[in-house]
Amino acid sequence: MIIDGPWLAAARGAGLLAADGSVATTIFAEMSALAVRTGAINLSQGFPDEDGPGELLEIARQAIADGVNQYPPVLGMPVLREAIARHQKHFYGLDVDPDREVLVTAGATEAIAAALLALVSAGDEVVTFEPFYDAYGAIIALAGARHVTVPLRAPSFEPSLEDLRAAVSDRTRVILVNTPHNPTGAVFSREVLAEIVALAERHDAIIVTDEVYEHLVFDRPHTPIATLPGAWDRTVTISSGGKTFSLTGWKIGWVTAPAALITAVLAVKQFLTFAGGAPFQPAIAHGLEMPDAYFSGLAATLRAKKDLLSAGLADAGFEVFDSHGSYYLVADAAPLGYADAVELCRELPRLAGVVAVPLAAFYTPEHRADVASLVRFAFCKRTEVLGRAANQLAALAR
Ligand SMILES: Cc1ncc(COP(=O)(O)O)c(C=O)c1O
Repeated sequence: MIIDGPWLAAARGAGLLAADGSVATTIFAEMSALAVRTGAINLSQGFPDEDGPGELLEIARQAIADGVNQYPPVLGMPVLREAIARHQKHFYGLDVDPDREVLVTAGATEAIAAALLALVSAGDEVVTFEPFYDAYGAIIALAGARHVTVPLRAPSFEPSLEDLRAAVSDRTRVILVNTPHNPTGAVFSREVLAEIVALAERHDAIIVTDEVYEHLVFDRPHTPIATLPGAWDRTVTISSGGKTFSLTGWKIGWVTAPAALITAVLAVKQFLTFAGGAPFQPAIAHGLEMPDAYFSGLAATLRAKKDLLSAGLADAGFEVFDSHGSYYLVADAAPLGYADAVELCRELPRLAGVVAVPLAAFYTPEHRADVASLVRFAFCKRTEVLGRAANQLAALAR
């Protein structure tokens, strides 16, 4: 029996499957398995080890008890769409019509998939920054598009305007932005965002922007690219409740965009999941309308965690690049004498009882050598756990 199809072929072409068709073991799977096997502290994966606000959990429990358990509307429940629209107005001054310009999705991941599959044709180019969240490469491959990347270089991991201009052309259909950025913690400046908008206008490209870490910024504001002059009409903005409310397993995401773009994304989304997460939708709606102190408190707490882990890594001998947002920071193991972060990450449980991922996992194969000694650490863990990790990492310095 032949088991194959367009996605498997695309995935094989993109190096996501082994030649025999089996799922290639990713470094993420390998490192998580290593953490389980060794009992090491898992700083490789981006999920918090504490659940989000108790009142949200209670609303979801109550919704289940009240019978909110059947298909919600394909666009998302009105209570959530209205809360998303008010959130965009309150935080960013954006006027969004909850009935025509908001779409609820199964996490940001479905939104990214539906947006790219709706907007990109085979042979088009999609520009992303590199390193990039791994789903981008897979979906671009599935769409049959060409993946063009703009390098983000240490120490700031902000793109250069020259590199941006070199990557975008009339062949570009979508510029896929991610700020705050996974895995580097970069938060793009207004100047960079304005250049992206100018390039999109010049080459008639669509901007798809993944802003799932919008509330997790430490020392500078997050600017949604859709707020820049000229951007709204050509921008699909994606976010999710997972990171903002420390509820990554609920998978409630959303898209805000002009009605014509929402309709295009909806055309794909309806045949991916149709709809989901009914009892979680009213809970996330409540979360989006919590007082500002919740959002600033979340960022302040995460910043303190970032500082704690950064100090531990610096004491251990890493060169640490400052993170300005997201759950992650990047550190260079070269000063410790490790040129190969893959090798170090395999050894780290034994050396320090900690698991992390090599930054190269977020690169196309041809660019991995450039970042061979860099490691990504997640700091979205309890303070006590990060303190322990920092102490154990100090052993590397000895
Ligand atoms: C940049 C980025 N986008 C999207 C996601 C996934 O979001 P969701 O869990 O809402 O699908 C993640 C999760 O790590 C991420 O880092």
